[in-house]
Amino acid sequence: MDPKPFENERTFAAYRSEGTLDEFHRSFEEAVTEVESELGRSHALLIDGRRVDAEETYTVTSPADQTLEIGQFAAAGADDVDRAVAAARDAFDEWRATHWSERIEIFRRAAALMRNRKFELAATLTLENGKNRTEAMADIDEGIDFLRFYSRELERNDGYEYDTGEPTPGEHCTNALEPFGVFGVIGPFNFPFAIFCGMLSGALLTGNTAVAKPASATSLIAHKAVDILVEAGLPDGVVNLVTGSGGAVGRPLVEHEDVAGVVFTGSRTVGRNIRRTFFDLEKPGPVIAELGGKNPVIVTANADLEKAVSGVTNGAFGYSGQKCSATSRVYVDERVIEEFTDRLVAATEELVIDRPRTAEAFVSPLIDDDALDRYVDICDRARQVGTVRTGGAVVADDGRSGDTGSDGDRSGREKTGRERSGDLPNGRFVEPTVVTGVPHDHELAREEHFVPFVTIHPVSGLDEAIANANDSTYGLCAGLFSEDENEVETWFERIESGMCYVNREQSATTGALVQAQPFGGWKASGTTSKFAGGYWYLPQFLREQSRTVVG
Ligand code: NAD
Ligand code: ALA
Repeated sequence: MDPKPFENERTFAAYRSEGTLDEFHRSFEEAVTEVESELGRSHALLIDGRRVDAEETYTVTSPADQTLEIGQFAAAGADDVDRAVAAARDAFDEWRATHWSERIEIFRRAAALMRNRKFELAATLTLENGKNRTEAMADIDEGIDFLRFYSRELERNDGYEYDTGEPTPGEHCTNALEPFGVFGVIGPFNFPFAIFCGMLSGALLTGNTAVAKPASATSLIAHKAVDILVEAGLPDGVVNLVTGSGGAVGRPLVEHEDVAGVVFTGSRTVGRNIRRTFFDLEKPGPVIAELGGKNPVIVTANADLEKAVSGVTNGAFGYSGQKCSATSRVYVDERVIEEFTDRLVAATEELVIDRPRTAEAFVSPLIDDDALDRYVDICDRARQVGTVRTGGAVVADDGRSGDTGSDGDRSGREKTGRERSGDLPNGRFVEPTVVTGVPHDHELAREEHFVPFVTIHPVSGLDEAIANANDSTYGLCAGLFSEDENEVETWFERIESGMCYVNREQSATTGALVQAQPFGGWKASGTTSKFAGGYWYLPQFLREQSRTVVG
């Protein structure tokens, strides 16, 4: 079967090409008002189709305004994880026996429900994790894409069952891919809808059942995603939602004897621990983990600098650098580095810092105080070893005081003009930061920091640039700016990276689309070589069975 060609959801682009962006913004504003009026509620766990309270709760507030309470959420513990895993185990036999075409129907229905509610879902993201309007809508679009694309893949592969013939007379052979059982699905805060839906649909469409644990900071959007799947027809126990911290929920989930596999997106440290646990416990299923990045961009002497500046600005500072795919180090030919850096600094200083719910906002708030502390720390260190060309200051920190270094005290610092002065709420806003003079092998240019911070390094030519770009334990995304075909070819031959983009001015390293740009990492950026949103993603959730019947 060859279903219709896949088309991505591209909501913002569609409004723009139809010249109806006013309508997009009006719908967004209405949705924010509506979602805001429903905030502050209590949310229980979902176990075996029932809402279950936990002994304790935690409160989520908006990173853009910590006086805005998103809701109270059940803080699960190991006992709740036990109950959720038992429900998923009990639901497994029936769900695996449900024909794949019925499973697809449920997920297509869910995608349609999400599409009808996309402004509400995007507004929820803006309030809960601080994405600006376009980034929030892209996150929702991608989640819908995952559901539709994986459904299409299951259909295109006839549920992954093949007749392998009769090699010996009387021996009828088939080959099938079978689910493992219960999957733990553990998500990150930064793509809390897209990645959460992608991982969950991968596990469930293939006949596994799931216990899902979102990042605590983004619990509301996870509830909405799961509610939609249930409304679309997922039977009780097939998906269970257990909110709480990594230690209290994530760890017991991973260690649980009835959890056969884990699909995880998050930091390298946690991913590595999950892998180790699986190895030690000799679990039957996989750890499908998408991890961090330290994504290099190369700008050669043959680059179009306008494209390069635009690509690096968007790649480094979209969602304030809180993307695994964010551009974080740039190797620039020494013949053009001065011009490139000056223009990058100027473009960075144009970026609007404002509440993400406004139409103009580009720079998003940081998700938590750890991120704020990390930002302050690396900016201080950058001043010691190099030069902060722009940025380096905290703009709003919910009243916490402290010194960010040369710019002086956080609240008293001079506004740059691109901030909507006086209008910023009690959020965690920092300036996008461009740094030069840091040695290529310095920790600042090697470790993932997950804040809006990019280092610029001179190179003598493409050979040195590629060597430096590859001199990393990570291998997630990489970008090149060059108008020279030979340079492009050389780069593709030698760059060690899962995602490779050339001359992409909309963003040098971020913003992959499902199917067209399957997303995953090489080296320490992931544990499998199969990418999310790609043709080989679903089989990872399955194990092969060769079946022979004589007679
Ligand atoms: P994180 O590792 O801190 O948390 C991810 C999830 O793991 C959360 O739900 C968290 O509660 C849970 N967790 C924490 N400790 C755990 C434990 N001991 N056992 C089980 N679960 C545990 O990551 P984050 O801060 O939410 O996200 C940022 C990280 O995610 C960055 O490193 C980023 O690069 C990575 N990321 C990668 C991709 C990708 O596709 N490669 C995409 C998005 C984010
Ligand atoms: N899929 C996300 C991106 O490409 C992580 O930026």
